[in-house]
Amino acid sequence: MTWVEQLRAHEAVCRRAPSAHNTQPWRPGYHADQIVIDVDPARTLPDSDPTGRDLGLGIGAFVETCLIVAADLGLHVTAAPGPRLVAATHRYPTPFTTADVEARRVARGRYAAGPVDAAALADLGPGFVHLAARNLASELVVADRWQFDTPPVAVELRDWLRLDPRRPRYHLDGLTDRALVLSRFEARFLAAALRAYPLTRRLGLAALLAASGRNLLRYDGSVLVMLPAGDDHIAAGRRLLRGWLTLARHGLAVHPLSQLIDCPVTAARLAERVGAQPLAVFRVGRPLAEPTRSARLPPRRRVAQNPRR
Ligand SMILES: Cc1cc2nc3c(=O)[nH]c(=O)nc-3n(C[C@H](O)[C@H](O)[C@H](O)COP(=O)(O)O)c2cc1C
Repeated sequence: MTWVEQLRAHEAVCRRAPSAHNTQPWRPGYHADQIVIDVDPARTLPDSDPTGRDLGLGIGAFVETCLIVAADLGLHVTAAPGPRLVAATHRYPTPFTTADVEARRVARGRYAAGPVDAAALADLGPGFVHLAARNLASELVVADRWQFDTPPVAVELRDWLRLDPRRPRYHLDGLTDRALVLSRFEARFLAAALRAYPLTRRLGLAALLAASGRNLLRYDGSVLVMLPAGDDHIAAGRRLLRGWLTLARHGLAVHPLSQLIDCPVTAARLAERVGAQPLAVFRVGRPLAEPTRSARLPPRRRVAQNPRR
């Protein structure tokens, strides 16, 4: 088996990489001596991610995940522009393993009180700014309100919500009620409100939809802001994944709050506070309950070779 075939055989675990709205926008193309990672245009978020920031971060997270899995298999693989995965002279140096990739998951429930310990922050290295959760609590209310009050953004979110376990897509992609830690009642309310969305908005329910996050940051906890480090979005996505896995090694989970940097008003205020345009913002802490494992698409089936060709 070539290294490409070996890594292909592990595509399912590579697909555990995180992506905004769990869109899984990557499309690995397997060739004799390289893997080209394309974007699936049907899996992008043109309205909520018009600059392609989260798309690049997700693709970067996938690249890093593939490199970790390859290294764990003992394969000599590295990343090249494209992005592509190509043969290398040695294993990709990483402290992480396939087990770390399998165990990683976002946690959106409650966290234990207390800021992140200094050792975890030190391990994370530069490029991340720590803020007290409480300091962003009212900003999150503004950002959530903007999200539900901006029709294309709300409709895009609606398209990626998976609130009914009887639907097949519930088990493939998107954000499930369980991953969002919604009760059955909350899930039904959200589904109904978003189904009637333009009307819901006119009725002023955006504020009500946004209310669920009102207290999310009103506790003694930590938020981390990832700053650009002269890297492109794909390199930043690789850095973000390494950061999340580093925190996981300290028993810490993350909960991204991208609306804070999507909403123009809160994004501008946050940029002023941290001195740069942030690439990612996430709550960090020790979850009080085991987070849900999110769905993934199965690896694409190989196209049967036509023996006459
Ligand atoms: C660039 C990026 C942005 C994200 N933004 C958000 C967000 O704003 N809110 C949220 O709850 N999750 C966010 N997530 C987390 C994804 O929804 C999550 O990775 C995906 O649903 C898969 O779940 P898992 O990470 O638990 O495997 C983001 C993830 C990435 C990579």
